[in-house]
Order: sequence, then C-alpha cells, then structure tokens
Amino acid sequence: MKVLITGAGGQAASELQKTAPTNMELICLERRQLDITDQAAVTAALNTARPQLVINAAAYTAVDQAETEPETVHAVNADGAGRLARAASAAGARFFHISTDFVFAGDQSFPYRETDPPAPLGVYGQSKLAGEKAARDATKDTALIVRTGWLYAAHGKNFVKTMLRLQAERPCLNVVCDQVGTPTWARTLAETLWAAASRPELRGVYHLSDAGVASWYDFAVAIQEEGLRLGLLETAVPITPVTSSAYPTPARRPAYSVLDKTAAWRDLGISGRHWRACLREMLEELKTCAPC
Ligand SMILES: NC(=O)c1ccc[n+]([C@@H]2O[C@H](COP(=O)([O-])OP(=O)(O)OC[C@H]3O[C@@H](n4cnc5c(N)ncnc54)[C@H](OP(=O)(O)O)[C@@H]3O)[C@@H](O)[C@H]2O)c1
Repeated sequence: MKVLITGAGGQAASELQKTAPTNMELICLERRQLDITDQAAVTAALNTARPQLVINAAAYTAVDQAETEPETVHAVNADGAGRLARAASAAGARFFHISTDFVFAGDQSFPYRETDPPAPLGVYGQSKLAGEKAARDATKDTALIVRTGWLYAAHGKNFVKTMLRLQAERPCLNVVCDQVGTPTWARTLAETLWAAASRPELRGVYHLSDAGVASWYDFAVAIQEEGLRLGLLETAVPITPVTSSAYPTPARRPAYSVLDKTAAWRDLGISGRHWRACLREMLEELKTCAPC
C-alpha cells in the first residue's frame, strides 16, 4: 500500500515512519515539501504520489501561540485538513486524520467517549474540531479521525524532553496538578494507525491514548524517577504541585481530558499499555539515540 504522510517532521509522523509495516510504501513530506495550506501543492502531491492512504500528521500545535493567530491556525488545522481530505477523496485514497482531546471542555470527571459533545476552550481546540468536520464532509464520512492527547516521542518537542532539560538545569520545579489526562507515546498512536490501515471498513471518530490517568505533576515525577533510574538525570530536584491559577497561560486547557479508548481497543483488537510502561520504554530509547 502506498501511503502519503504529511507533517513528516513532527512527532507522530516520525513514529509512523519508525513503525511502518514492510508492505507499506511511504511518501513522507515535511512542511517545506508539502504545505497543506497550499491548494496547488496539495493537488500536485496527490497527483504525483497516487497513494491509497493519506495520513494527515501535519498540524499547528502551539496551543498558547494559537490564541494570537487564529487565522493561521484555522488555515492549517481546519482548512488544510479539509483540503487534503478532498484531494485524497478525489484520488480515491482513504484519509486518516489526527485530532485532539482539546476538543473537549474538560468538565467531566469520567473518560470522554466519541459521542460526548465537544466544546473546545481555545483556538487550537476549535481549529481541530473544525478540521474533523472538514475531513468528514470532504470524504462523505469515510475519514478515520483519531483523537489523542499529551503526545511525546524521542523526536520533536514535548513535555518529557522539556522536563528532562529543566530538571537538569534548575534547583526546583513547579508543575500543575489540576489538569488530568493521559500521557501518550506517539508510538502507540502510530501502531494503532497502522493497524487501522489494514482494516478498510474503519471510519469515523476513535479515541486513542495510552492507558491510565495522570496530572502533569504526576507525569513530571514519573519522568524524574525513570530519568534517574536510567541515568538521564543525575540528581532529584524537588517538584512541587501547583494549580493552573499559579501558572497562567494564554490558552485555557481542559482540567480533565482522559479519553475512553474502549471502541478503538475493541474494534482493532488491541489492549492498551499503561502510560508509565510506555514512558519507560521511550526513555530507554532516548538514552540510546542521538539528540533528536
Ligand atoms: N502534541 C500533542 O500533545 C498532541 C496532543 C493531541 C493531539 N495532537 C495532534 O496529533 C497530531 C500530530 O501532532 P505532533 O505532536 O506530531 O505535532 P508536531 O510534532 O508539532 O508536528 C506537526 C508537524 O506539522 C507540520 N506543519 C505545520 N504546519 C504545516 C503546514 N501548513 N503544512 C504541512 N505541515 C505543517 C510541522 O512543521 P513545522 O515544524 O515546520 O512547523 C510539524 O512538523 C496533530 O494533528 C496534533 O494536533 C497532538
């Protein structure tokens, strides 16, 4: 199967490339090779590649910065997703789109199902929700949309790598404890998307993250414990739990964004791994890989 992947410089795309089954022929395009806001470039890329599957891993992901440039964010996350989905449909290719737990307001106290009403709190979440609709409309509801959250990988910028750096540089850290979700290794997402690639009947929205629940504070403490164990950190610095009000950010974030993975696990016949086991494995890999 020929697969075109956009946003090839990002975390999700890097894991898609690492985990692709051998029967997949990948065409991986970074932003400089394919800007999904450029209609002519999208048409040309699809005409040249003639893929059977398009995976949109491109997105504007700077959640705080998004608040000050909504047009740019929507151009990528909403219009760009729709444009790519339309081109995929016209080329007869399936379309996979990655979305986010930030489509929810976070006022539930139990995991969000695919059928729960979205109500994004900020520009980024609004643009991603609009991208879901654009992808569904452009593909007559045949697109597969996978919502995930709190992604990290050895490649790219993320909370895990930021925490390792800050814990090495600073005498102490404050980390918010009143936002709860599930840290998700981008590898889990990538492997799930490849599993879905061999299931042509799958369509619609699915929730997918690693298993378990954590606050950012819990996640930071786990990164420290695993980092010390693996020798990625030399000393333990005190980490203090603080509330979001003590750490104001331009974008509001959901207080609770745990996703219910029942449907994805059932329909794909997979069993989720706990986020802590995935974190350990990713850090082991980070220890052996060149800076990325
Ligand atoms: N990161 C998270 O915690 C998280 C959580 C939930 C859902 N998601 C979703 O998961 C997906 C993958 O996220 P990720 O963490 O892999 O993001 P990422 O590491 O930020 O990668 C996104 C990639 O998209 C590229 N891009 C931006 N604008 C583009 C454009 N106009 N045309 C083509 N490419 C463009 C970026 O290129 P540049 O680097 O050159 O800008 C970057 O390489 C996204 O849909 C995101 O919304 C992410």
